[in-house]
Amino acid sequence: MSLSDSALKVLIVDDNPEDLATYQRFFRKDPNHSYQIYQACSGEEAQALYHSTSLDCLLVDYMLPDTDGLSLLNELKKNDRFAPPIIMLTGQGNEDVVIKAMRAGAADYLSKRLLSVEVLRRAVTNAVEKHRLRSKVREKHLALEKANQELLRKNSEIQSFYHSVSHELKTPLTSALEFVSIVLDGLAGPVSDQQREYLDIAKESCEQMRFCINDLIDSTRIETGKLRISTGQYALSAVVDSAIRALTLKAKDKGIDLISFVQQDVDDVFIDKSRINQVITNLVTNALKFTDAGGHVTVRVNGDPKKPEYIQVSVSDSGKGIEPQKLDRIFDRLYQVDNEVSSSQNGLGLGLYISREIVHLHGGHLGVESTPEMGSTFWFTIPMVEQGEMLENIPRELAS
Ligand SMILES: Nc1ncnc2c1ncn2[C@@H]1O[C@H](COP(=O)(O)OP(=O)(O)OP(=O)(O)O)[C@@H](O)[C@H]1O
Ligand SMILES: [Mg+2]
Repeated sequence: MSLSDSALKVLIVDDNPEDLATYQRFFRKDPNHSYQIYQACSGEEAQALYHSTSLDCLLVDYMLPDTDGLSLLNELKKNDRFAPPIIMLTGQGNEDVVIKAMRAGAADYLSKRLLSVEVLRRAVTNAVEKHRLRSKVREKHLALEKANQELLRKNSEIQSFYHSVSHELKTPLTSALEFVSIVLDGLAGPVSDQQREYLDIAKESCEQMRFCINDLIDSTRIETGKLRISTGQYALSAVVDSAIRALTLKAKDKGIDLISFVQQDVDDVFIDKSRINQVITNLVTNALKFTDAGGHVTVRVNGDPKKPEYIQVSVSDSGKGIEPQKLDRIFDRLYQVDNEVSSSQNGLGLGLYISREIVHLHGGHLGVESTPEMGSTFWFTIPMVEQGEMLENIPRELAS
């Protein structure tokens, strides 16, 4: 709504009849706007009118019979943060009040001595325009806040939905896996080669589903701050070896050369063995997934010469690589680089999201360097000492 659409409702608070008549005259002379003028001769009258009328602007004289303009301003602002703009009218001798009034939230001030039609018009219309703009911004802000709350509510609904679905699926899946294993082991009678082949496929599919379900459960744990690690002192090299052993067949099937270089003299570290195994498995699985047959995947474990208090594990591949502008996003929940490779491969886009959180919980960092069509190196660090111990060594003022 523009200012000229309807009469501006202005309350003038002044007990001097001559001044009141002058303001009235000035407002009438404004050719661009019409005004509906209200008058109050005291703070009390002003308060009553203020509460009963929807005003666009107030002009408040400093000298009032029952109070002063500054106290009235404070009173009105105190009870209504979004009060319409208040312009202070100051006479000679009380200019010092101006600073206080502006600090208390007055929209403007006018010296009674220098008042003219133009000065009054400009002050009132500016103040009303600014106030309306601010109100619009505030309304938008409130609407955005509301929409945000609604999104958060829906998000938590979805989270709890897929958390319960994951748990519901886990039990029948475990039992399916167990029975497939029983049959495969020949406990239910002899198994022909063809039956074994089919059962292997069924088992592999169940395993894949189990990975997905576990990732979904981990993801909701991260969202709700419930992902925990339980550390002990272990040789990282052994954990890497075991993760690689489990993936050797997969690499062979795809025709990828999977090798590891483990620096033997690295000390034991405090880790959650199965969680670190999960991180290494995620990184190597990704490397195998995004590398074509004939490629190489190399896992290295070594101390970091630049940061001797950390040990580093890296997984390099000669695969597709990732474009620089997408590198930041690959650690986001559910993000998958939109190319034919990732969409043709299974997965939810949770592996790196979960891995990064696990590494953070260990006090380390997970990073990546990649060149499209050349390959990628994902690496993570783990502190050599227990996290609690590291904090104990930091001076108290820095740790807090
Ligand atoms: N070694 C890699 N080479 C090329 N792209 C990769 C590599 N590792 C990850 N990416 C990209 O990052 C995305 C996210 O990886 P992430 O491991 O989180 O998910 P995913 O492997 O697609 O699915 P999930 O891990 O849930 O099975 C992948 O979809 C892929 O686009
Ligand atoms: Mg993955």
